[in-house]
Amino acid sequence: MHISAECYPVAKAGGLGDVVGALPKYQLEAGHIAKVLMPMYRTPYLYNHEWEVVHQGYTNMGSRWFNFTIIKEKSNELGFDLYLMDIHQLLDREKIYGYSDDTERFVAFQIAALDWVSSWRHSPSVIHVHDHHTGLIPFMLRECYKYRNISHIPVVFTIHNAEYQGIMGWDKSYYLPEYNTWNWGKLDWNNAINALAAGVKSADRVTTVSPSYLQQLKWQSNGLESLFEMETGKCFGILNGIDKNVWNPETDRYLEHTFKPEEAEAGKLKNKYSLCDDFGLDYDKPMIVFIGRLVGEKGAEILPDMIRDCFEYIGRKMNFLILGSGMPEIEHRLNSLKELARNDYNVYIGYNEQLSHRMYAGADFLLMPSRVEPCGLNQMYAMRYGTMPMVRRTGGLKDTVTDFGEAGGYGICFNDVSVGDASHAVWRAVELYRNKEKMKECRDRMMQLDFGWERSAEEYLKLYQQIN
Ligand code: ADP
Ligand code: GLC
Repeated sequence: MHISAECYPVAKAGGLGDVVGALPKYQLEAGHIAKVLMPMYRTPYLYNHEWEVVHQGYTNMGSRWFNFTIIKEKSNELGFDLYLMDIHQLLDREKIYGYSDDTERFVAFQIAALDWVSSWRHSPSVIHVHDHHTGLIPFMLRECYKYRNISHIPVVFTIHNAEYQGIMGWDKSYYLPEYNTWNWGKLDWNNAINALAAGVKSADRVTTVSPSYLQQLKWQSNGLESLFEMETGKCFGILNGIDKNVWNPETDRYLEHTFKPEEAEAGKLKNKYSLCDDFGLDYDKPMIVFIGRLVGEKGAEILPDMIRDCFEYIGRKMNFLILGSGMPEIEHRLNSLKELARNDYNVYIGYNEQLSHRMYAGADFLLMPSRVEPCGLNQMYAMRYGTMPMVRRTGGLKDTVTDFGEAGGYGICFNDVSVGDASHAVWRAVELYRNKEKMKECRDRMMQLDFGWERSAEEYLKLYQQIN
């Protein structure tokens, strides 16, 4: 039973949605029953599908009593059982995050989730929760008297991103159902309730979405370093996979021109032409794209200066196309760069699933100067579509991309989040692009890599078995 704030295609803000939308499918294929519970946001998916009510409950978060409803998608379109939870005035919103009462929204969601599970006749064999929005579940399951009948269920907690920790003051501790106060310390980190830390302390197993990220958390995790050091025995790094049915250049329904790996060169070119037409770019130059949240974590703030520097010092030998949204200041600076464009720069501010697919397919290079990247899915999507990743060596990027200068390599790697290092990577990309043979060799190599979920799904199952 997965419990998560996001699940593609119902609601997705980033990679968490992709993972929770894909992993259960592969668990199902391996012969297990996988279910997903998430909040019922008001997204198009909700209105385009038919639902049946499977449970109604009444519960409380401190002094606030509320009704909740669980609905299930009727046609089982995704393969696994998909449940949405509605809580009036808390979860009935269009967006996933970004409201001033997000703390209350997700605490209420977690309480109602456990209320529901505790009413089942046969409990799930594992509860698998994801990120801080569901990080209080392992604690509540073990320590709240109300959930005594299900406190034996093993819990796995997966950390997709430790930058966000779900911190709330102790003044809100009354939100939680009555718990064994001797164990209050399991909720606490630095004199506050910290959902991420509580999840790590209380879960039976903790996973991070790549092995390198797990190591990194021990020396860089926004204050939780010593926690990861102490809990190292139950922590495992399992690399994410990608959903090969959704991300397949041969069948991708978002593409005008689908292509087989053996026809990648011609297929990609058609997609590039169409992107260049739409964004006023020059086909003859290598196209370097960035897709992602425009935040410091992704190194997005270096993009404007890097692009300026590249144009000035390398020359106007490449196109840049950027898709993303995030910090208003970065959005503004990227927008103002358009004045400089001479058929070689454009930006789309916003979230656009279709455009992202077209860019993975049509670009020559995908740049990821991430400061922190627990796994990163973009580089894997890019490689599946024959687009060379240009990545900073960190977290999952380090675990999935080998520089073309090394034996068997196929990508471009650099060490620092700096204008200098990223511009140097751009220069290498421009030079490499002139060598068609080498480009083809790298492309063939990366398109043969298998980033499917099978292996990782198997690792999760082994972990579930350890605690059952
Ligand atoms: P994170 O979850 O940290 O944002 P990931 O690399 O794991 O990073 O996943 C990002 C996912 O979100 C990818 O599927 C990527 O294509 C998608 N994405 C990010 N920003 C946008 C955007 N502006 N429009 C469309 N898709 C986006
Ligand atoms: C997070 C991370 C990203 C990872 C994704 C899915 O959002 O930032 O690196 O790929 O989760 O696990």
